[in-house]
Amino acid sequence: MIAIQSGRMLCCKKHGKKMHTPPPCKVFQDLEHYLNGPFQATEGWCAGHVWQTLLPLVLAQHALNFSAPVAEVGPYHGKFFWGLVQSTPAIMRHLAIDIFGLEQENADQSGVKGDRALFLGHGRSLGIQESAINLIEKDSLTLTAESIQTQYNTKTPFSFFSVDGAHHPDYVEHDLNLALSLTDRRGIIIVDDYSNPRWHCVQEVVARKYLLSDPEFVPLSFSCNKLFLCHRDFLASYRKVVRDFIMTEFPDTRVYDTDRFGHLGLTILPDMKKNMRVPVYKNTMLEKIRIA
Ligand SMILES: C[S@@+](CC[C@H](N)C(=O)[O-])C[C@H]1O[C@@H](n2cnc3c(N)ncnc32)[C@H](O)[C@@H]1O
Repeated sequence: MIAIQSGRMLCCKKHGKKMHTPPPCKVFQDLEHYLNGPFQATEGWCAGHVWQTLLPLVLAQHALNFSAPVAEVGPYHGKFFWGLVQSTPAIMRHLAIDIFGLEQENADQSGVKGDRALFLGHGRSLGIQESAINLIEKDSLTLTAESIQTQYNTKTPFSFFSVDGAHHPDYVEHDLNLALSLTDRRGIIIVDDYSNPRWHCVQEVVARKYLLSDPEFVPLSFSCNKLFLCHRDFLASYRKVVRDFIMTEFPDTRVYDTDRFGHLGLTILPDMKKNMRVPVYKNTMLEKIRIA
C-alpha cells in the first residue's frame, strides 16, 4: 500500500489504474532498489551517478505538481529507460522506440541492437507490464512527432526524453527534434554520448542546433556523458535545484558553472570510484525547492 501524501490522482505505473501519486519517498525507494539491483545486472551504457542530476529534477517536477510519462529513443535492454520509469511518480504509457532486432542497416555501424525480449523482461522483473509501455519497434527516422502522437496513440508531452538511438548525425538531429517537439516545458531532454569521442557527431549536431537556431530548450548541465536540456524559462530555477541538492547530498561531486552557447549551466563530475547511493528522502528536500 502506498502512503498518500500529495493527493494527486494519476495512473498506476504498473497497471494503469487510477490512484494517488506516490510521494517522492516512494520514488527514492524504488530507485534505490533499482540502482542497487536490476541496474547492475542489466547490460547497457549508463552510469548510476547520472541520478545525482536526475533526482533533484524529479523533485523539481514534483514541486511543480507535474508528472508525465518518460520516453527514450534507443532503450536497448532498458538500463537507463527503466531507471527513468522508476524516477517518475506514476503514470503509464511510457514510450520506447528501438529497432531492436529489425533486419535493417544499423545507421551508426556500431552493430549494437537492442533485444525486445530482454528489454521487456527487465521491466517485468520490476513489476511493470508490457501494457504500461508504448513500444514502437521501428527506425526512428520513419517517425514524426505527429505520427507518434496520432498513429501510435501516445500520451504526450513527456517529463523526461532520452535521445540514445543511432549515432549518425541525421539520426541524432531527427531524434533531438522529436524530443524538442514532444517534451513538456517543465520536462528534461537528455542527449547521450555528448562527450564520447567515438560519436563526436552528437556534439556537432548539438552545436549546429544552438549556433544556427535558438531552441526553447537550452543546455542545463552535463554529467556522465549525457547533456541535459531544459526549457529556458526553468534554467535558473533548475540549475539552483540541481546545484543545491548535489552540494548537500553528494559533497564529493565537483560542480562547475559552465556556459554553453550563451546559457549558464552546470558541469557535474561525480566521484566515479564511489558507488552511487540514493539518499534517504527527507521532506525538507522538497520544501527547499522554489521555482520562479
Ligand atoms: C547504445 S544503445 C542505447 C543504450 C541504452 N540507452 C542504455 O541505457 O543502455 C543504442 C540503441 O539504439 C537502437 N537504435 C539504433 N538505430 C536505431 C534507429 N534507427 N531507430 C531506433 N533505435 C535505434 C539500437 O537498437 C540500440 O538498442
